[in-house]
Amino acid sequence: MKAVELRQKYLDFFRKNGHSVIRSAPLIPENDPTVLFTTAGMHPLVPYLLGEKHPQGNRLTDYQKCIRTGDIDEVGDPVHLTFFEMLGNWSLGDYFKKESIAFSFEFLTSAEWLNLPLDRLAFTVFAGDEDAPFDAEAYAEWQKHGVSEKRIAKLPKADNWWGPAGVTGPCGPDTEIFYWTGPLPAPEVFEPSDKRWVEIWNNVFMQYFKNAEGKFEPLKQCNVDTGMGVERVTAVLQGKASCYDTELFAGLFAKLDAIRGVEAPAERVRSERVVVEHIRASVFLMADGVAPGNVDQAYVLRRLIRRAIREGMKLGITEIFTPSMAQVVIDEYGELYPELVANKDAILENLDREEKQFAAALERGTKEFEKLIAKVPAHIQNKSISGKNAFYLYETYGFPIEMILEMATEKGFSVDVKGYEEAYAKHQELSRQGAEQKFKGGLADHSEETARLHTATHLLHKALRLTLGEHVAQKGSNITAERLRFDFSHPDKVTPEQLKIVEDMVNEVIKADVPVICEELSIEEARNSGAIGLFGDKYGERVKVYSVGDFSKEICGGPHAQRSGELGHFRIQKEESSSRGVRRIKAVLEH
Ligand code: ALA
Repeated sequence: MKAVELRQKYLDFFRKNGHSVIRSAPLIPENDPTVLFTTAGMHPLVPYLLGEKHPQGNRLTDYQKCIRTGDIDEVGDPVHLTFFEMLGNWSLGDYFKKESIAFSFEFLTSAEWLNLPLDRLAFTVFAGDEDAPFDAEAYAEWQKHGVSEKRIAKLPKADNWWGPAGVTGPCGPDTEIFYWTGPLPAPEVFEPSDKRWVEIWNNVFMQYFKNAEGKFEPLKQCNVDTGMGVERVTAVLQGKASCYDTELFAGLFAKLDAIRGVEAPAERVRSERVVVEHIRASVFLMADGVAPGNVDQAYVLRRLIRRAIREGMKLGITEIFTPSMAQVVIDEYGELYPELVANKDAILENLDREEKQFAAALERGTKEFEKLIAKVPAHIQNKSISGKNAFYLYETYGFPIEMILEMATEKGFSVDVKGYEEAYAKHQELSRQGAEQKFKGGLADHSEETARLHTATHLLHKALRLTLGEHVAQKGSNITAERLRFDFSHPDKVTPEQLKIVEDMVNEVIKADVPVICEELSIEEARNSGAIGLFGDKYGERVKVYSVGDFSKEICGGPHAQRSGELGHFRIQKEESSSRGVRRIKAVLEH
């Protein structure tokens, strides 16, 4: 059975059983700052699992694109992926364990659906601990369907409990379903540690909410959340040892072979798998609006792309190749995920640019790296790259530390990672001090006017975010006694109409004459309070957060006006481009 048929059967089965099919949500969580990526099908549904009404009812099903980067270093072996699709079905306070188990059993074993032999299936249930009891109900339900006790293992929380990727959220015991992939007949007794039993489906029974103190409170409604990995189950259904051996990667491998001018090998090597996996993941991230960069999701994306390029080089590729590989992903997945087609140009351009930039930096950096290595005499044991040198490679040539580690290991060197981190922290501290110096320069006289312009900058920042979108982030700020200058991320020219809206919004807050309040908070408190601004981790333990009424809340060193009414009339003088993807506004306060 091909993946396309598996997805279809799954949705058909649950639709037949009263579930509405919902669309796959973006990979970047829309309202959840606790995680960088959507890591499971339940993630976009958290508000509904907590009791909010879903517009499509209380039985839902979908396929959801997911990213998990925890095992990124494992990618390249036969089983690990960073990007995968998850099939899922949910009960939002509707059916619970009995029905959920009955649905799974029927879908897996019935001749009409997957038709898997019961003899090759095994199950785990939660054994119980101080937080929650043994899941006797799940244990009994499987047996009612004819499953032997010998094929049901009772396991602790580490195996049979599912919680959210963030710190808090809905959670509960789960029951997992395994398929025997070894020689037949399958062993009579299920031994979960035997890797030939492959997990294919997970049914979570959400009964609890894990709060900020790590306590488990009963949920208002009991939910079911299930997840079945498309790639893994496709492989299992086809009797393949690896998801890389299914049709899901065949087109990408064929393209890779064509680029290299080689025949398809009997077995794929690690570098080939990394290339196809990371390009597929990168394309999906870019389709959801992520562009390569240096923080958060943008950094993960850059890392994925650069790893793919580097592995491509190891395979002997010397030309730009990632855009043509991306095209295969867009062609193969475009129908299921229209955002790939809609963002095709941005995806291909980003890859082309990133590949050119990286190739240039890599060439210079690799030479530098080799020089560093050559300086160490061959007979020396425990050869190591100092933290200072590792940081130099990072800062000057853009080599991520993970890559320096990999390259060093290949040459039999270790890396002083602690020293690297220290050098990195020192650098951050110096740039912070530099920024503060500059800041002082702007406000050396502490004049009332510069303080007012500073408050006006906060209002401008917030008004831009409200008008143009949350992608607007400060890229630079410069204040003299006469004017403010503010640089921010935004791809297009800001239209005169938009500028007028922004100007009016700022002037309204000024007219309302609201107080400007300063609080001292820890970084975490500041983040949780919804403050915007430059959060860099080494910024210092506690930060100042300035609020202007309830309009704006931003991390800042100050000083500021006392009330917005002191600002006078705000006028934008000029809007122009500052650099690629960054706009600049100059504005004044008139009295
Ligand atoms: N949310 C569960 C999982 O990802 C189903 O395994």
